Amino acid sequence: MAKVPGWPATPSAGPVLLRAPRLRDARTWSEIRLRNERWLAPWEPSSPHDWEERNSVGAWPALHSALRSGGRKGLMLPFMICYGGRLVGQLNVSNVVHGALRSCTVGYWVDEAMAGRGITPTALAVAVDHCFGAVGLHRVEVDIRPENTASLRVVEKLGLRREGFYERFLDIDGGWRDHIAFAITVEELNGRSMVSRLAALPPAPAWRNGRA
Ligand SMILES: CC(C)(COP(=O)(O)OP(=O)(O)OC[C@H]1O[C@@H](n2cnc3c(N)ncnc32)[C@H](O)[C@@H]1OP(=O)(O)O)[C@@H](O)C(=O)NCCC(=O)NCCS
Repeated sequence: MAKVPGWPATPSAGPVLLRAPRLRDARTWSEIRLRNERWLAPWEPSSPHDWEERNSVGAWPALHSALRSGGRKGLMLPFMICYGGRLVGQLNVSNVVHGALRSCTVGYWVDEAMAGRGITPTALAVAVDHCFGAVGLHRVEVDIRPENTASLRVVEKLGLRREGFYERFLDIDGGWRDHIAFAITVEELNGRSMVSRLAALPPAPAWRNGRA
């Protein structure tokens, strides 16, 4: 099979590193996912199988193999998010299209215990730079439910552009859910990296979320 541009890869910024899934991630992945059902389920694709079944240690080998296969075929870049060397979440670059469109969609989650440290904005910035660099894409899209204020903050921090409102767009948590589409094309970075643009942004004010 021909080499896929930009895959596999381990792009990083500071303590945040993205890497391919490993078979031996099973136990850690399952432990985080089972502990985070309430945190993750509202934002995840609908499924006829219950959470326990989908996120058990035994469910990982099939998922791992589907992700690795998607990566090898160039259809997706299925990254695990590591923070300080520890697995804390996933970031999946999917719907990878080359040709005249050269676009992709990014989805992500982190362990609730690690939320609020800016891990996902950094992971997304690293992924955007990788997509525009080694993968050779021109556009990155992120689709978010209007209720997902935490995820809306992530794209706000990166300065992604609001592109539109998709009605009943994705089958999430048991129903067809509206999503807001955000995107960025490479020209918007004016030759800078997304990681450096994120680093240059002022920190969130302390009054946000009652953390003052
Ligand atoms: C959305 C998500 C990935 C953000 O990741 P993160 O690494 O915590 O991102 P940040 O640290 O930048 O935090 C983003 C916002 O989350 C909110 N937040 C932070 N800590 C939080 C916590 N413990 N509980 C709830 N919300 C929290 C804050 O509003 C924060 O914005 P702020 O920095 O301006 O205060 C994470 O909340 C998550 O995994 N949620 C569940 C899955 C999900 O929604 N995936 C995205 C689907 S589109």
